[in-house]
Amino acid sequence: MTEAAFTPRVFSGIQPSGNLHLGNYLGALKRFAEAQNKGIQTLYCMVDLHAITVWQDPADLARATRELAAGFIASGLDPARSILFNQSQVAEHTQMAWVFNCVARMGWMQRMTQFKDKAGKNAQNASLGLFAYPALMAADILTYHATHVPVGEDQKQHLELTRDIAIKFNHDYGVEFFPIPEPVIEGAATRVMSLRDGSSKMSKSDPSDMSRINLTDDADTIAKKIRKAKTDPEPLPSEVAGLEGRPEARNLVNIYAALADMTVDQVMAEAGGKPFSEFKPMLADLAVDRIAPISTEMARLMQDLSEIDRILADGAARARAIAAPILRQTYEIMGMVGAREV
Ligand code: TYM
Repeated sequence: MTEAAFTPRVFSGIQPSGNLHLGNYLGALKRFAEAQNKGIQTLYCMVDLHAITVWQDPADLARATRELAAGFIASGLDPARSILFNQSQVAEHTQMAWVFNCVARMGWMQRMTQFKDKAGKNAQNASLGLFAYPALMAADILTYHATHVPVGEDQKQHLELTRDIAIKFNHDYGVEFFPIPEPVIEGAATRVMSLRDGSSKMSKSDPSDMSRINLTDDADTIAKKIRKAKTDPEPLPSEVAGLEGRPEARNLVNIYAALADMTVDQVMAEAGGKPFSEFKPMLADLAVDRIAPISTEMARLMQDLSEIDRILADGAARARAIAAPILRQTYEIMGMVGAREV
């Protein structure tokens, strides 16, 4: 069986831990909607079980999960066309994760840079779940036989591990059961940087709220954050090559390109040579035009939490219908007695 033998299926996930920001939107959500609109089967998951690898206040986790669902829908995901659900409602993820804990090797996990970053200096005090996190991520993807995984650049290493797990399982059991999924890391904004520092990633954990645009920010806040974004004193260069060594300028150009659905070359043709005093208002107008409606729609959706819960329960039932037979077959391959009835 070759990769082509698997029906194309897209899976991706986002953690409900804190605010969604422009990096999540351009690196993930916007591209989730594009995959959906191509007519491929798409599953998108709020990965609450990943979120609890670090402490989450229960009330905050519930609010963040529903707000994330609202963010998915406001970004163009249609619950009728995409399967939208939260991870903990589909037990097959954790069941498959255990299998993969037994496939993945300690050495593979120890190489994960995200674990090292998140655990920091006190790795002995990190949860076991934080260490095993990438095996659960592999389970998310492979329990659906997903073939394509749209993510931002920071998830590349986890996707490589997912591929290694699929290859090792297939090899150890002499089967071609799991597809080897393709990371889809495309477009101008696969790594959106902080607005305060062009060398660090835009992230929800940055203490400065000015470093990121949140999808819940209103129009004035979005415009202010762009106006105050760090830049250098030179005008934009006239060619892409001139962005070399100018990380803040590069970041704003990338954001513009991704928001406008343009290539970086097209942006340079339009804005090359302009001083930031001209380019920033252009970018602010564009960002407000694209992001403010999302924030308004999220607020509207959050007025009806029971509707959000209904969408997640419906998505979970549809997800389970795909996951359950794949888990059962996995157990059968491994020799688990009674697997047919799982
Ligand atoms: P998470 O929740 O940290 O981020 C969600 C998505 O947003 C992307 N992203 C960015 N893209 C561009 N620029 C940025 N500054 C930026 N910050 C975040 C991430 O790359 C990601 O695509 N482990 C995953 C969640 C996950 C998952 C999965 C993803 C769990 N299971 C299965 C794909 C498939 C994570 O923590 O993403």
